[in-house]
Amino acid sequence: MSKKRILSGVQPTGNLHLGNYLGAIRNWVEGQSEYDNYFCVVDLHAITVPHNPATLAADTYAIAALYLACGIDLEHSTIFVQSHIPAHSELTWLLNCITPLNWLTDMIQFKEKAVKQGENVGTGLLDYPVLMAADILLYDADKVPVGEDQKQHLELTRDIAVRFNHLFGRGETVLKLPEPLIRREGARVMSLTDGTNKMSKSDPSELSRINLLDPPETITKKIKRCKTDPVRGLTFDDPERPECHNLLTLYMLLSGKTKEEVAVECQDLGWGQFKPLLTETVISALTPIQEKYKAVRNEEGYLESVLRDGREKAGAIAEETLAKVKSALGYSKPL
Ligand code: AMP
Ligand code: TRP
Repeated sequence: MSKKRILSGVQPTGNLHLGNYLGAIRNWVEGQSEYDNYFCVVDLHAITVPHNPATLAADTYAIAALYLACGIDLEHSTIFVQSHIPAHSELTWLLNCITPLNWLTDMIQFKEKAVKQGENVGTGLLDYPVLMAADILLYDADKVPVGEDQKQHLELTRDIAVRFNHLFGRGETVLKLPEPLIRREGARVMSLTDGTNKMSKSDPSELSRINLLDPPETITKKIKRCKTDPVRGLTFDDPERPECHNLLTLYMLLSGKTKEEVAVECQDLGWGQFKPLLTETVISALTPIQEKYKAVRNEEGYLESVLRDGREKAGAIAEETLAKVKSALGYSKPL
């Protein structure tokens, strides 16, 4: 039996942080040998908010290199850039025409991001989830590993696929329904400066997140300054202590210890003892990633060849699905 297929992606907007790593990429890496994997850098999504044309290409390459640095293995996985495969844009248009507008105006992420942009909110931001649905449906993905914040977009993707199949499938499944793959632990890593807000690339404060490429001095500084509370003794799951829960969770995930082990180890610690422990753990988890990143970037032409192969392999699958969709919609074949 052939392996089930996975598809996921990250936007090239700024640096990847521990939330992206623990919520998404680390899970891609861990399960990869069981699946046939496709990981894209979603650079078309990156322009749904104001972006910098001078850095878009470099940021896109940096994310692709980070995928490799985090352990994505080309034996099991294909890495590609979304904008290199025109089928993503084309399927988005076709799906737009069968997606009710109110499905999009109801999306939480749209509402949150639209508020931040005020009057200048672009149509692309509203349409963002349809592009994401196209990313997933083009590859007949069985599972989509993402953080908790993407759950609603996955539900929308399924709704769009159901609607398309119902309207145009003539009893056949043209678009396969994907399942979300969301881990409980790490699915929502919180900001270092406010344990009730998620760690995010768009937070104006650099101190709120640890980036995967932060040097040890920066990591040390950020953890030193992170928000804590005046209570001695550290515990998980206390709703009054969101920062404490978040920092213990980071320690647990990056040290590889179990929740019980961490709970026992930290129950009598003060912040002055715990912070250096966490700092050391974060640095030792990120050092190998940073070294691999440098190696990938230093090998002339390597990343380009990975992305060229990725485009070829992913592009062939995407074209096939797009042709099926167009045929179901009644389009003639190009002459
Ligand atoms: P983005 O940074 O929005 O491109 O997100 C890329 C991936 O990282 C998605 O799967 C998100 O769900 C995940 N992600 C982003 N922020 C966090 C966070 N704070 N905690 C856990 N996962 C996250
Ligand atoms: N919307 C996702 C995010 O911000 C990124 C994304 C775009 C994605 N297309 C995707 C994730 C397809 C999974 C599958 O995190």
